[in-house]
Amino acid sequence: MPLPDIRFSQRRQQAAEQSIAYLMQQGIENRDVISLAAVFVDEATLPVSLVRESIASILTDDADGHRALQYGTTAGFAPLRENLLNHLVRLENCSTSDLNLTADEIIVTSGSQQLLQHLSDVLFDPGDICLVAAPTYFVFLGTLNGVGAKAIAVETDEHGMRMDALEAELARIEQAGDLHRVKMIYLVSSFENPSGVTLADDRRRQVVEIARRWSKEQRILILEDAAYRELRYAGDDGPSIWSYDQNRQFVILAQTFSKSFSPGIRVAYGVLPSDLVSAIHDIKGNFDFGSPNLNQRIICDALQTGNYERHVSSLQSSYRVKRDAMLTAADDFFADIPGVSWLKPSGGLYVWMTLPEEIETGFESPLFKQASRIDGVMYVPGEIFYPQNSPLRRRSQMRLSFGVESRVTIRDGIQRLSQAVRHVMMR
Ligand SMILES: Cc1ncc(COP(=O)(O)O)c(C=O)c1O
Repeated sequence: MPLPDIRFSQRRQQAAEQSIAYLMQQGIENRDVISLAAVFVDEATLPVSLVRESIASILTDDADGHRALQYGTTAGFAPLRENLLNHLVRLENCSTSDLNLTADEIIVTSGSQQLLQHLSDVLFDPGDICLVAAPTYFVFLGTLNGVGAKAIAVETDEHGMRMDALEAELARIEQAGDLHRVKMIYLVSSFENPSGVTLADDRRRQVVEIARRWSKEQRILILEDAAYRELRYAGDDGPSIWSYDQNRQFVILAQTFSKSFSPGIRVAYGVLPSDLVSAIHDIKGNFDFGSPNLNQRIICDALQTGNYERHVSSLQSSYRVKRDAMLTAADDFFADIPGVSWLKPSGGLYVWMTLPEEIETGFESPLFKQASRIDGVMYVPGEIFYPQNSPLRRRSQMRLSFGVESRVTIRDGIQRLSQAVRHVMMR
């Protein structure tokens, strides 16, 4: 008898293969290609010796070592959550009392992706709506899709999501009788992946006011994804969106140590409105009943000793050099190509480039093939950062990462890419 097929759940069907898996595969298969598509952080900057020493110190004392190697709690290692309060005081540049927060509203997760997933699980029924920037972080678009939620893109300029466009979209949804389905506004507030754009201060304040005003039938939460917040190379840190939500009712702040310390440690945290805490706690309890205890100890140790802060400032210096290498190369090799423009990010890992509309950049496009197979350079096609059916979706953009390659190969990669673009334009 032939082996019967596995009958997968509906959720399996919704979890379509992510472009991220395709990109990682391409990167691994084409070792001699310069990857401006990288989804990794710069390996040379990973804190190997620091972590080695930290583990040795955690395991010096047997009893302490036993605790570190034991299960932890679902909410996360208590001393870490206490330290995160101090860390937030530093990031928000405020006093402990102005923080208006206790460790009970902080939950530690295995990467912020886990928080994004759990939030989606507890908030969205199929057909519910999440408003997102156009463009935005494509993995979260996949997460929304996986729970059957609908992502609606809102127009964005060089200062982030436009608040007039957000209001107009909410009015349109209300007219269609669907306001009760809007559960969330998702914003990558600093150095957005992919555009590198930072939401302007006045818009941070406005979005909280808009969420409050439009919470007519149910609360509209704002998910502030601050994954790149600490990777700043120019200018000063402004207040988070979260800081404008003084009663801590509307904004969820998601932060991660993946970009600023190590993605392999996979420790992140969410700051939640108090009435959301038990929902996330319960679902995480079902899922893994706690993130790896030892990893949380390493992060706690780094925060306590000041090693984390020192590491972040050296990281900023090294990424700043790479960002500048990419921007200089773009000036040198793209400035004379008509209709090409790019944004100059003050932080993060990406430069967002727009080509003339007729030059498509997708995986199947002549440009992608020319660049990856002939000129030997990879980028991430911009169209994957928009919800599938969005009228705002553009097909002629690219995300260029300066995270992984060296200064020399970044320059070489940008030169190769300009060759590929010129080649396709001349056809
Ligand atoms: C905007 C954004 N949010 C969240 C994440 C997830 O990071 P992690 O799960 O490693 O914390 C990433 C990773 O690339 C990201 O770019």
